[in-house]
Amino acid sequence: MTLRPDSSVSLVSPQIQDAFTQSTPLKLGIMASGSGSNFEAVAQAIKDKQLNAQIQVLIYNNPDAYAAVRASNWNVPAVLLNHRDYDSREEFDRQIVQTLRQYDVDWVIMAGWMRLVTEVLIDAFPNKIINIHPSLLPSFKGSRAVEQALATGVKIAGCTVHLVCLEMDSGPILMQAAVPILPDDTPETLHARIQVQEHRILPQAIALAAQQAS
Ligand code: GRF
Repeated sequence: MTLRPDSSVSLVSPQIQDAFTQSTPLKLGIMASGSGSNFEAVAQAIKDKQLNAQIQVLIYNNPDAYAAVRASNWNVPAVLLNHRDYDSREEFDRQIVQTLRQYDVDWVIMAGWMRLVTEVLIDAFPNKIINIHPSLLPSFKGSRAVEQALATGVKIAGCTVHLVCLEMDSGPILMQAAVPILPDDTPETLHARIQVQEHRILPQAIALAAQQAS
């Protein structure tokens, strides 16, 4: 008998039927440190009319983040705020808040933002900051979540979209997707399968958060 989970299996909860419910478009500010595939997924969902929103600005903190290239391809303004140029996390966050306000942002989406945030940002957008994390929280907080899941030997991995609070990867959960871990998974193969689900649930969870807030 061969025991081999089906790699195409996934489970999303909660299931929402129609994310395109807002009568006025949500004004999103996206923050990313790296590749920006989640930025792209949100932009595509907006284009496909699965999410009624517009991306006002991308803020990125690494000069070579590919997310900036994606923003340019989508004609979204991209602002580089390099944390290395600031003396404290608070000072950095003050600049982020100023930029988000300048671009008239309502909802802040941390899509691969690899910096801890302070109360400066949290207090400026209460209950309106959303993060995506590549684990089934509350398991495997912090960096290298996919590696942690593999090392621990769990059989199901996944991703979580949640509201951001001061404690890292800990705010109220909006939506999760689960995927099986395969016997020969590497961090790369597992992360790739998790990202397929991230791209699916992030736009839906943004709509859900807005719906819950209204
Ligand atoms: C995602 O796996 C996300 O969960 C984590 O960072 C990664 C960002 O990926 N917070 P990308 O830059 O959106 O491709």
